[in-house]
Amino acid sequence: MTSLPPPFLDPAKDASPFDTAREASAVLADPYLFRIRDLVYRASGIFQPDNKFYILENRCAKRLEALGITSLFEYFRLLTTSSRRESEIRLLLNEITVGETSFFRNQPQLDAFRKTVIPQLVEAKGRLGNRRLTIWSAGCATGEEPYSLAMMLAEESQTTLRGWSWNIFAVDLNDQRLEQAREGVYGEYALRSVTPYYMQKYFRPRNGQHQVCDEIRSMVTFERLNILDDSRMVFLKGQDAIFCCNVLIYFGGEPKRRVIQHFHNNVNLGGYLFLGHSESLFGINNDFRLLHFPGCVAYRKISRKPSPTSVI
Ligand SMILES: C[S@@+](CC[C@H](N)C(=O)[O-])C[C@H]1O[C@@H](n2cnc3c(N)ncnc32)[C@H](O)[C@@H]1O
Repeated sequence: MTSLPPPFLDPAKDASPFDTAREASAVLADPYLFRIRDLVYRASGIFQPDNKFYILENRCAKRLEALGITSLFEYFRLLTTSSRRESEIRLLLNEITVGETSFFRNQPQLDAFRKTVIPQLVEAKGRLGNRRLTIWSAGCATGEEPYSLAMMLAEESQTTLRGWSWNIFAVDLNDQRLEQAREGVYGEYALRSVTPYYMQKYFRPRNGQHQVCDEIRSMVTFERLNILDDSRMVFLKGQDAIFCCNVLIYFGGEPKRRVIQHFHNNVNLGGYLFLGHSESLFGINNDFRLLHFPGCVAYRKISRKPSPTSVI
C-alpha cells in the first residue's frame, strides 16, 4: 500500500498527491468500507476522514472476526438488510467511538462552572422559587465527567446550594462504557487528577481499584442516547447546563449543527453549554453568546428563539 504509484506527482510541490500513506490507503480500500463509513455517519454523526480510514478498517475487522464472516460485502449486507442490523450497528458503534476521558479533565471549565455558573443559576432560578438544577452530560463515556460534576455540586451543598436539589443526566451511545459508568469503578489512570481530599471523601476501595461512593452515584442517571436522535432530543427541555465535551470533534458539519440546535432548544434561557477545549461553535451556530473565563470558554443562551437560519 505504501508503494502506491504517484499518478499526478509534481516533484516541485508535494512528494505525493496524498497527505499520508494512510490517506492513500483509503483510495485503495474496499468499496464497501466507504458504504460502511456513510452508514456510521448517518447513524452517529461520526465521520471517519480518509487519513483515519485504517481505524474503520480495523474496527470492522474485529466485527468480522467475531461474526465469523470474511468479506466487507457480507458485513455491509448484515448491517443493512438483516434482521440483526440494528443490534449490529450498535455493536459496530461500540467499537468505533473513542472513549478517552478522566476525572476533572478540564479544571478551568469546572472552576468556571463552580465559581460563576452555579452562583448565577442559583440567583436567577432562586428568584423564581425554583430550587432545582438540571445538568446534562452528553457523551459521558465511562462516567468520569458527570461524577466530577456531581462531586463539585456536593461540595457546594452546604454553601451556595444549601436547600437545593439537582440531577445529572448522563448519556452515551456506547453500551459497554455506560455499564462501566454505572458501576463507577476506576483505576489509577482515570483518577490521576483527583486530589487526596476528593479521593478520601468520594471514593471507596473496591478490588484493588476505587469506586465512586453511593451518595455521588445516586446523583447521576445514565442512559443510552444517541444525541443525533431527533425524536428523543426534542424531549430533553429544561436543562440548566449542558456539557458536551470532546464528542462533536468527531462529527461532520451537518450533524454537529443539528446537535447544537437541539442543545439550544433544550437549554433554559440563561443556561450554559460547555464544549471540549478544542471545540467551538464558530461557523456553526450564532444563537449562543460566547463567554470567556480564565482558561476556558462557555456558551450561554441569551434569546428564546433560534435565528431563522438555524431551525432544524
Ligand atoms: C472522547 S469521549 C468524551 C468523554 C467526556 N465527555 C470527556 O470529555 O471526557 C466521547 C464520547 O462520546 C460518545 N458519542 C459519540 N457519538 C455519540 C452520539 N451520537 N451520541 C451519544 N454519544 C456519542 C462516545 O461513545 C464517547 O464515549
